[in-house]
Amino acid sequence: MTQGMTAEAPQLGTTSSLTSALLAWYDRHQRRLPWRLPPEALRQGRRPDPYRVWLSEVMLQQTTIGAVKPYFEKFLAQWPTVAALAAAETDDVMKAWAGLGYYSRARNLKKCAEEVATRHGGVFPDTEAGLRALPGIGDYTAAAVAAIAFGRPAAVVDGNVERVVTRLAAIETPLPGAKAQIKKIVQAMVPEARPGDFAQAMMDLGATICTPRRPSCILCPMSYRCTARALGAQERFPIKAEKAEKPLRLGAAFIAVRPDGAVLLRRRPETGLLGGMTEVPTSAWTARQDGADDVTAAPFPAAWQSCGVVRHVFTHFALHLSIYRAAVEGPAPSGHWWSARDTLFQEALPTVMKKAIEAAIPGASKARRAKIR
Ligand code: ADE
Repeated sequence: MTQGMTAEAPQLGTTSSLTSALLAWYDRHQRRLPWRLPPEALRQGRRPDPYRVWLSEVMLQQTTIGAVKPYFEKFLAQWPTVAALAAAETDDVMKAWAGLGYYSRARNLKKCAEEVATRHGGVFPDTEAGLRALPGIGDYTAAAVAAIAFGRPAAVVDGNVERVVTRLAAIETPLPGAKAQIKKIVQAMVPEARPGDFAQAMMDLGATICTPRRPSCILCPMSYRCTARALGAQERFPIKAEKAEKPLRLGAAFIAVRPDGAVLLRRRPETGLLGGMTEVPTSAWTARQDGADDVTAAPFPAAWQSCGVVRHVFTHFALHLSIYRAAVEGPAPSGHWWSARDTLFQEALPTVMKKAIEAAIPGASKARRAKIR
């Protein structure tokens, strides 16, 4: 039995039996993930390592579990503790993060590790408020770490949970306007005894059963109380406010290749989009500015040849980047460096830059993998 739940969730009535059904389902069907302790260990009273929980939650924001797993393993192998991460070179952290996107997360990850190491003696604060005060930790991450690592009864709401709850209660208010109502419902459902399991059970249910399309209601432990299902309208929820279409930005990227295969790179400014990451020379193409998309934007004269257009979608805009390639010799211009072909893809290159290089030098990324194996 789930203890300690007397609250009524708005529009849902008493929820203790729903929570119990969900936890029983989680006991049988939870996903085994590298940052989770196995159920036997949890039953013996062990708690997950807050460092692993925090690292995984930061990585999982805006990113899928499949994409995160190898990065998580790599980070843990390289920096097994928060103290080790705090002592790392920021540049190495950016390199290890390259490809995961939303790079301010990586910079904040490092800052947060430093603050935990220097101001908290290497121990994460164990309350939602204490966690929320750390760099890069927002409402979601503070709640998730507090619940999963420290057993605090925090309401953890991500996109999966929003879908589950808007269906359970058939919430007609469009997102994001419904967020406060969803949080209240989740808060009322959180059991005192197993808040971390409850949070992860809701996420697992959303990811594997209560999916955006064709949810498997027949397998859902909460379907007997699901209003959307009773209405036969599961896929109508969550209702979302219409989004403005993303603006299209234009730009050009220039891949200068030395006879030995090295590619010319430079570092982006510390602040702003992809701040501090590595790039090939490009025209301006930030969220506020369209760049030239022809050779007039080249960093220096050379026999630039067109290699097509790379398309990439950022949070606030779509980008069409015209790609040019030229054979170039001589020393790197100030602020640039030549990066050897074998180790090129170990640089802190964001995905859009990997795509640009691959368009100019087909097979460039695979050449490196073949070498490493
Ligand atoms: N998504 C974000 N955090 C998660 C977790 N702890 N378990 C499953 N999915 C998640």
